[in-house]
Amino acid sequence: MWASCFLLGVRLVLFQAASSCWGQEDVNSMLAPQAGRVMALGEWEERWQEDRIGFHQPQVHKMLETNIEKVLAGRTAVRFFFPLCGKAVDMKWLADEGHSVVGVEISEKAIKQFFEENNMTYSEEPVPAIPGAKVYKSSEKNISLYQCDLFNFSSSIEGQFGAIWDRGSLVAINPRDRKKYAALITSLMANDCRYLLDSLLYNPELYKGPPFFVPDEQVHNLFGSSCDIELLQSVDALTERQRAWGLDYLTENVYLITLKSTSVL
Ligand SMILES: C[S@@+](CC[C@H](N)C(=O)[O-])C[C@H]1O[C@@H](n2cnc3c(N)ncnc32)[C@H](O)[C@@H]1O
Repeated sequence: MWASCFLLGVRLVLFQAASSCWGQEDVNSMLAPQAGRVMALGEWEERWQEDRIGFHQPQVHKMLETNIEKVLAGRTAVRFFFPLCGKAVDMKWLADEGHSVVGVEISEKAIKQFFEENNMTYSEEPVPAIPGAKVYKSSEKNISLYQCDLFNFSSSIEGQFGAIWDRGSLVAINPRDRKKYAALITSLMANDCRYLLDSLLYNPELYKGPPFFVPDEQVHNLFGSSCDIELLQSVDALTERQRAWGLDYLTENVYLITLKSTSVL
């Protein structure tokens, strides 16, 4: 236990020291092993059909629970956005606390399972602004889940949000789409938005993903020009599941990302 904490600490110090002097070329070479990996939307839907959803957690995510006060910052009835929401039970937990939740997910099965497994009834309607999309709304709780490609969603549909919980999202979209993703997410942030981002570090030579590896340096490249970024927590997340993928270490980082205050003219 002590040995693994020590090793994780050493790895983080080395990583953080190195990341402060990495240039774009170094970042590109780190990303190279996964740069061309593309997962089609149909492959995600297949995973749901075949119940290959090892990413789903039956309990509220520890990193969300631990950092919730920093996300809320004293606010009540916050509007949360869940990109690539799956059937995360975190959505019900937040709605039970009086917050509202909007999620986006491609799999209809995931959305229906979310409501059914949490004993909620729901309505289903088309979304005229997004051809082919549907929105599923809980009848009891303030939860609306859009069944569509995230990249077809925008602030014109549901406005901007006071908080975002990004777990299994930035790390799940195709690496080539990260800039587009960062632009979309920042466009969904209200001025007071507190965006909690969960990302993963591992050796990308050992596993092709998803989840994909997202180095600290890239989090800064993606969001740093418009946002302040604070690393809140960094934990050793290696379990037998990832050892079976061939990984020898896995670090889970949680960042709090907020829009830089803009000067009023
Ligand atoms: C790794 S899972 C994470 C789910 C959830 N956030 C959680 O923590 O359990 C990624 C989810 O995103 C969905 N997905 C992947 N790409 C998508 C896209 N472009 N638009 C909407 N949903 C997508 C998949 O069906 C899958 O349920």
